[in-house]
Amino acid sequence: MHVAIIMDGNGRWAEALGHPRLAGHEQGARRIRAVVESAPALGFDVLTLYAFSADNWKRPASEVTSLMALFDRYLVVEGPHLRRAGVRLSVIGRRDRLSRRLAEQIEMTERMTACGRRLHLRLAIDYSARDALRRAAIAACSGTSWSPMEFERRLRSGRGVAADTPDVDLLVRTGGEQRLSDFLLWECAYAELWFTSTPWPAFTVTELGRAISDFRARERRFGGLKPTYVGPSFRPRSEASEDSP
Ligand code: FPP
Repeated sequence: MHVAIIMDGNGRWAEALGHPRLAGHEQGARRIRAVVESAPALGFDVLTLYAFSADNWKRPASEVTSLMALFDRYLVVEGPHLRRAGVRLSVIGRRDRLSRRLAEQIEMTERMTACGRRLHLRLAIDYSARDALRRAAIAACSGTSWSPMEFERRLRSGRGVAADTPDVDLLVRTGGEQRLSDFLLWECAYAELWFTSTPWPAFTVTELGRAISDFRARERRFGGLKPTYVGPSFRPRSEASEDSP
C-alpha cells in the first residue's frame, strides 16, 4: 500500500497557540517519527510526505530558510534511526535549487538507508507534479527512445531519473483544505482521498488508523465493476483478437 500525506496546517496550529510559524513546522517534523514508526504495522509499503512544494519558494525568505534547515536537521538526526528501523529514505523533486549542503545530505541519507526493506519513506522537497510531467514529456520528445513504462518511471522521481514506485492508494491531507496542490497528480489517478481538519502538528497515529480503516472499507473499482462480477470483460475492437465473441 502506498500512502501519501499532505502535511498541512503547521502555520495555523502555531499561530493559534501564539507561537511563530516555525514552531508549527518543528512540531510537524516531530510528528513524522511517530507516523513512520507506525507505518509498517498499518500495512504501508511506501509513504510519501509532501514537505515542500515548488510553489513554497514564494514564502518569506526567513520561513524558507528555516524549513531548509529543518529538512537538513531531520536527515542528520533521523538518518541513522531510519537505517536501524529498516526504512529506506528517498527524496523526490528537484535538487538543483537546494543548497549544496542539503543536496549532499539527501544523497548521503539515501545511500545510508538504501538497504531498508520495511518501508520506503519518500520526502517530496521542491516538488511539483506538473513540473515532473513536463520534464519527462520534454525529455521523451527530444530523441530518447523511452517506452511508455520508462516515461512513467522517469516522472515518478519528480526530477527525471527513473523511480519504481507504485501508484498512490490513499492520499491524506491534514489542515482542513481539500485539494491536491500539485502533489503526485499522475500517481493519484485512482487514489482514495481522505481529508481531516486536524492540523499536521496535532495529527496522531490513532487518527491515521481511522483513515486506514475508512480506506479499507471503500470499494475500489478502478473503472471496472465489483470484483464479484464474473462476466467477460469488454475490450475495444482495436484490442480484441479476431476470434473474440
Ligand atoms: C504546510 O503547512 C506545511 C509545509 C509547507 C511544510 C511541511 C513541513 C513539515 C511538516 C515539517 C518538516 C518536514 C520534514 C520532512 C522535516 P503550512 O505552513 O502551509 O500551514 P498553514 O496552512 O497553516 O499556514
